[in-house]
Amino acid sequence: MRSSILGSFCALLLLVREPACCGDEVTSGTVNPCCYLPCQHWGVCVWYAEDRYECDCTRTGYHGKNCTIPEFWPRVHDLLKPGPDTVHYILTHFSWLWDIINSTYLRDVLMRLVLTVRSNLIPSPPTYNSKYGYLSWESYYNLSYYTRILPPVPEDCPTPLGVKGKAGLPDPELLVEKLMKRRTFRPDPQGSNLMFAFFAQHFTHQFFKTYNRMGLGFTKALAHGVDAGHIYGDNLERQLHLRLLKDGKMKYQLIDGEMYPPSVAEAPIKMSYPPGTPPEDQFAIGQEVFGLLPGLGLYATLWLREHNRVCDILKAEHPSWDDEQLFQTTRLIIIGETIRIVIEEYVQHLSGYMLQLKFDPTLLFHAQFQYGNRIALEFSQLYHWHPLMPDSFHINGDELAYPQFLFNTSVLTHYGVDKLVDAFSRQVAGQVGGGYNVNPVVTPVAVRTIEESRHLRMQPFNEYRKRFNLKPYTSFREFADNEEIALTLEEFYGDIDALEFYPGMLLERTRPGAIFGESMVEMGAPFSLKGLLGNPICSPEYWKPSTFGGRVGFDIVNSATLKNLVCLNSRTCPYVAFRVPPEEQSVRTDEL
Ligand code: HEM
Ligand SMILES: *[C@@H]1O[C@H](CO)[C@@H](O)[C@H](O)[C@H]1NC(C)=O
Ligand SMILES: *[C@@H]1O[C@H](CO)[C@@H](O)[C@H](O)[C@H]1NC(C)=O
Ligand SMILES: *[C@@H]1O[C@H](CO)[C@@H](O)[C@H](O)[C@H]1NC(C)=O
Ligand SMILES: *[C@@H]1O[C@H](CO)[C@@H](O)[C@H](O)[C@H]1NC(C)=O
Repeated sequence: MRSSILGSFCALLLLVREPACCGDEVTSGTVNPCCYLPCQHWGVCVWYAEDRYECDCTRTGYHGKNCTIPEFWPRVHDLLKPGPDTVHYILTHFSWLWDIINSTYLRDVLMRLVLTVRSNLIPSPPTYNSKYGYLSWESYYNLSYYTRILPPVPEDCPTPLGVKGKAGLPDPELLVEKLMKRRTFRPDPQGSNLMFAFFAQHFTHQFFKTYNRMGLGFTKALAHGVDAGHIYGDNLERQLHLRLLKDGKMKYQLIDGEMYPPSVAEAPIKMSYPPGTPPEDQFAIGQEVFGLLPGLGLYATLWLREHNRVCDILKAEHPSWDDEQLFQTTRLIIIGETIRIVIEEYVQHLSGYMLQLKFDPTLLFHAQFQYGNRIALEFSQLYHWHPLMPDSFHINGDELAYPQFLFNTSVLTHYGVDKLVDAFSRQVAGQVGGGYNVNPVVTPVAVRTIEESRHLRMQPFNEYRKRFNLKPYTSFREFADNEEIALTLEEFYGDIDALEFYPGMLLERTRPGAIFGESMVEMGAPFSLKGLLGNPICSPEYWKPSTFGGRVGFDIVNSATLKNLVCLNSRTCPYVAFRVPPEEQSVRTDEL
């Protein structure tokens, strides 16, 4: 039994994807001049012939052959602008200052600034994708592609990353083995717990759904954002199987008098379970892979209960409404609740900011902001936070190893929602940045992430640093504080400008006391906030009580918290948070 579970987990890892390309072929003759990645400050490289190229510097604030000469105001701006580490320091210190700001209009002013400055880094409408390194209608229109912030490295360049670095890249297995694989568990110094980790995975897998059968760079989640497709399914047929089609509700089953997702016998949809798992033992959930982990089943259960709870409230408010209107309106409420919890608790926790973050779409009503979103390959890559996963799971006095945990549906029903929430809220997650912290069970995922980025020819880490207004690193020593990481990378890549995107994200020095390094935050936050506020429910036409069934529904959105999600949908009201309780964290850190 155990081996079959592990076997099919490995099969999941090995789902057909082509091997990474090698790039040790160095072509003779002329080199595409765009291989030099010459255009700075968001300039666009256009190849004409042989070594003739042009950088289009339109509206970059720079000019010259490579868009390197600043116009007057951008230069002044650059001189006055504090660096991201300074801003981060201010936002995470001076609690007395923030105590004042939080309760004045300055909170709104700063929140608006955070939203606009971050969102402005994301092109909207979207631009490139993995096939089109230039603007094209196909790239704009075909939603099956993830978009890309930077175009792929041109084909036939002297080295895999353009012109920098060695002709061959390090073996991804070796790279992961030497620098990413966990030695001993290192807890997140910000105290993130497993409730946080599973929320991250659950929430993001509504919009990260790489479509392996179509190839790398494609997605199955065509809504490109927070659509709650992980609850309702990513297509109408699946949704209809999951719905009760009465009072707006979703199908469910009762176990020991408590509500859980229905079984696949009751809602006949495809779920990814090990072959031979009887349909009665498979949970039917919007996202097909959520049978993998009890933590995902837990959130599926909480949101299912929340959906059906909200349906009851709406029906009481609107006795005249039919099933369809109750369902559709509840779905918008669920989306609104999700966005609020993500901004005000999840991002608040991750950021460590003392500015109290606020989900208030009206902040952007008079700013320049495009509603809409397209999920980017780079966002998917950087969100591979597998170091969060612990070495085993501590639940109600038991310790469960991975083989007992993965694909085991009875963990959820055996302990029940209340005990799992309590357990996951008390167990600390791993630090994501800094290297050496990926449990061996998930190292194959890290390997495949690197293979994916090579296959899709992602530009070097330093190019992304520049694209997000960060200074490119000048040496591996500056990049990593761990000497072994710096030396090994130097040996592997030869040139800091040839360091790849994902290793850059995971191995960069972390900020003091933080879960991540600078790049993860400064590149991740723009994608995240753009996706959250770009949702249609945040637009002026939607953001009003009637959209959510009136005052009562709007109030549910506006009062949503993780605690309400759990405590309005469980028997007891267990300890629930995105971080371990303060006492237990200090005990844990002292042990190490
Ligand atoms: C024990 C826990 C976990 C296991 C066994 C696991 C396993 C996997 C597997 C098998 C894949 C597909 C890999 C591939 O096809 O290349 C994957 C993808 C991914 N995982 Fe995890 N994972 C776990 C936890 C997490 C967590 C906590 C996060 C946090 C955000 C996360 C984020 C992702 C992302 C963003 C992807 C890419 C999804 C896509 O593009 O479709 N995973 N993981
Ligand atoms: C522009 O970039 C190319 C490639 O990096 C470099 O060789 C060239 O000297 C640069 N030209 C100017 C005017 O900066
Ligand atoms: C301001 O917000 C931070 C972060 O949420 C919090 O720690 C602090 O207590 C808040 N202060 C006030 C006065 O609300
Ligand atoms: C999107 O592009 C892929 C790859 O070219 C193609 O197979 C698919 O049919 C396109 N989708 C649409 C809706 O045109
Ligand atoms: C699944 O979980 C249950 C409850 O924790 C446990 O009793 C059982 O041994 C687990 N199954 C496997 C195959 O490990």
